[in-house]
Amino acid sequence: MPDYAELHYMGKVYKLPVIEGSEGEKAIDISRLRQESGLITLDVGYGNTGSCCSDITFMNGENGILRYRGIPVDQLAEYGTFKETAFLLIHGRLPTWEEYRQFSVLLNDHSLVHEDMRSFYQHYPKGSHPMGILSAMVNALKSFYPVLENIDEEINITLTRLLAKIRTMAAMSYKISRGHRVVYPRPDLTYCENFLNMMFDSPVRPYRIDPDVVQALRVFWILHADHEQNCSTSAVRIVGSGRVNLYAAISAGIAALWGPLHGGANQAVVEMLTDIHANGHTIPQIIQRAKDKNDPYRLMGFGHRVYKTYDPRAKIMKKMCDTLLQKKTTQDPLLDIAKELEAAALEDNYFIEHNLYPNVDFYSGIVLRAIGIPTNMFTVMFAIGRLPGWIAQWLESMNDPNWKLCRPRQIYTGPVETDYIPFDDR
Ligand code: ACO
Repeated sequence: MPDYAELHYMGKVYKLPVIEGSEGEKAIDISRLRQESGLITLDVGYGNTGSCCSDITFMNGENGILRYRGIPVDQLAEYGTFKETAFLLIHGRLPTWEEYRQFSVLLNDHSLVHEDMRSFYQHYPKGSHPMGILSAMVNALKSFYPVLENIDEEINITLTRLLAKIRTMAAMSYKISRGHRVVYPRPDLTYCENFLNMMFDSPVRPYRIDPDVVQALRVFWILHADHEQNCSTSAVRIVGSGRVNLYAAISAGIAALWGPLHGGANQAVVEMLTDIHANGHTIPQIIQRAKDKNDPYRLMGFGHRVYKTYDPRAKIMKKMCDTLLQKKTTQDPLLDIAKELEAAALEDNYFIEHNLYPNVDFYSGIVLRAIGIPTNMFTVMFAIGRLPGWIAQWLESMNDPNWKLCRPRQIYTGPVETDYIPFDDR
């Protein structure tokens, strides 16, 4: 078999190299196409376009596979910690015990946020969305902490600083939005415990750390830690390709994640379930609306650009959801609605034919509710989880000798050359 594809156009034949990844995925390399033929490719939404070669995450949407650096995500969710997963994604391998210990020390040492940053939070208009605040705050870090990127050790400090501070900043925004005293990180707590404590501890109601809740948060963050070239990760890479600093690139990723078709879906799912519950809609009515081509309504938490089967993360999240709610003996009517909706959609021809299965967000919102996270903070929780992946992808792109400024082309469809008309003649 030739390791190239042929393009026949206007009497000429162009040979395009075919490259193969380590899991047998193949791609036509078109990097010389325009130079040789004058043609570009058009792929709105990039469903057929690989933007890079990457060693970080492998996913197979047809078979529901997700692995970080080769390790199946379900194994990490079962045995690993979030810190270990972050190390794995960023450094390419699991840490030794000593590396893990040092990483924990660094995360603790850098967990405080400059006191002057509080004034930013305090002057944000009431009711601002936490994702907007987080994106701005991460960008603002550049003015408080220099970006050290020259040698490995310096890069490590910058990356660790960001990982350490993001959970402090997220919890701080919640506390300040409620007019409560900010809770500082504690050196005796783990990454997940610290976040929960900073969110929920109060002088009048000390927070009791519940291992089941910590476990749920750990799994939630591990499952969100990376997902190859999705919308927000591509934003990080594209913005980063202009050689902006790390904070600015991550801030762009946070902004991209905010959208309801992407990370904002976890909030949208709970809003959809709440609406069904509050307004007494029946499941058949909702399914019908989602199928109606004249209605923009979609079943939130269903469908995925890559997964055309059950999202492997959704399976783990669903299990976590059941376990957490059972142990907490909490009844959440939204969980019952979610289960009924899922069962109805999975049996419906429209959803079967369109390969629409629950994605990770379908159950993650209910897990976050059970933990006590307010709905408008759901996407912030996703952002904290995704940070190691964004950092790993940014780092990989910075160290890739073939990485270029990202600059797609277009097919222009506007007016052809037209003369300027002075005001009086219009
Ligand atoms: N409900 C009803 N119909 C849907 C849904 C849905 N959730 N998702 C896709 N479809 C239908 C579309 O109407 C379209 O139908 P048609 O071909 O008959 O016109 C077909 O399925 C394909 O839809 P696209 O939007 O082209 O598929 P795409 O791969 O671009 O979209 C997306 C993926 C954006 C995730 C989509 O499935 C969606 O909007 N889902 C709901 C939002 C959501 O849950 N997002 C979270 C994704 S996971 C993540 O980012 C963490």
